[in-house]
Amino acid sequence: MSLLAKPGDTVAVASDHAGVELKGIVAGEIAALGFKVLDLGTQGSASVDYPDFGRAVAEHVVAGKVKAGVIVCGTGIGISIAANRVPGARAVLAHDTYGARMGREHNDGNILALGARVIAIDTAKHLVREFFATPFGGGRHAGRVAKLG
Ligand code: RB5
Repeated sequence: MSLLAKPGDTVAVASDHAGVELKGIVAGEIAALGFKVLDLGTQGSASVDYPDFGRAVAEHVVAGKVKAGVIVCGTGIGISIAANRVPGARAVLAHDTYGARMGREHNDGNILALGARVIAIDTAKHLVREFFATPFGGGRHAGRVAKLG
């Protein structure tokens, strides 16, 4: 089964103010994997609303403007909820290797959500690498993912 994106494809990133620093770090990791990065904001530390940024990335992914997304807020919870309200988005909130891997292998996740206040920077980088290195497993998982809508 195929990977989510191949080198040269574009990956969108976005965060609220709580995730802006980690977003920049994660963007560097994504670029190091050979992907182009589209940064949909926020920039700077001014307080913003995470739903706006989760939705923006999800809409880009579902419209096919980018292949995948990585979104960051304080916990990863709010921004993943926002992304998952866009039909066709499958945002995976991951805190560990197993979650990042299963979110691709079993759930065909197309967006990775991270919590800047709950995981270490090295963990976040590792989760990005794991997410993009794991193909969707297909088979028995395909019908289940189809039922997600
Ligand atoms: C912002 O303070 C915080 O609520 C947000 O980053 C996120 O954790 C929401 O789920």
